[in-house]
Amino acid sequence: MQKKILAANWKMNLLQTEVNAWIQTFSAFKCLSDTVETRVYPGAIYLKDFQATALHAGAQNVYFEKQGAYTGELSIVQLRSIGVQSVLIGHSERRQLFLEDNKFISQKVKACLQHDFPFILCCGEDIQTRNEAQHLDFVIEQLGNNLDGMTADQLDLLVVAYEPIWAIGAGLSANMAQISEMHEAIRVFLQSKFGAAAAEVPILYGGSVNSGNATEIFSCPNVDGALVGGAALDPSAFYQLWQALNV
Ligand code: PGA
Repeated sequence: MQKKILAANWKMNLLQTEVNAWIQTFSAFKCLSDTVETRVYPGAIYLKDFQATALHAGAQNVYFEKQGAYTGELSIVQLRSIGVQSVLIGHSERRQLFLEDNKFISQKVKACLQHDFPFILCCGEDIQTRNEAQHLDFVIEQLGNNLDGMTADQLDLLVVAYEPIWAIGAGLSANMAQISEMHEAIRVFLQSKFGAAAAEVPILYGGSVNSGNATEIFSCPNVDGALVGGAALDPSAFYQLWQALNV
């Protein structure tokens, strides 16, 4: 059965007391499921707080070198040493605000592949690219660049998150036709690059997912879950999304 993933991207939000309360409240919901994997991508200083929980904790960022003089950075081996299970790569905020280009992102992907470390690769177009009807080409090119050198036997490390930049934090998600079109194009691309096994790669949607639109979004073909920002900061709202996905 296709694995489904509900991932919380907390970004640079929540204070320590709020994190403690979130974990306590969310753990009480007992989100056990054979099909839905729940993940949290907290600020790096909170990653250790998940050690005593049953939740998958992932990092929002990683550097591709293993160790050394890289002030402010964290490596895969460091993350793994405290039980971190995966990482987000290529989020549009990193691409836009921190000027991470495709070359840099593919170095991070290569580091994950080398260390056998699972990652969610984010992709997505800005509004101008969509208005020019270049969105499909843009996203497929992004993925092609970022996944260069990856082979089919490494597919179990990969989750793709399609996040149209214009929908992130906007309160208004992409519509069903837009999501279906892109997710199908991503699936076709993955299968053409990696073969039939790519049918199993989870493709998440991200961009203003909330309890009001989740059921409809999750019913789209090739949508295997969501990467959620704003609605994941409140454990009860995030639990509602889990209920919508765990059907
Ligand atoms: P949002 O963020 O749910 O607040 O739109 C999603 C993301 O940036 O991953």
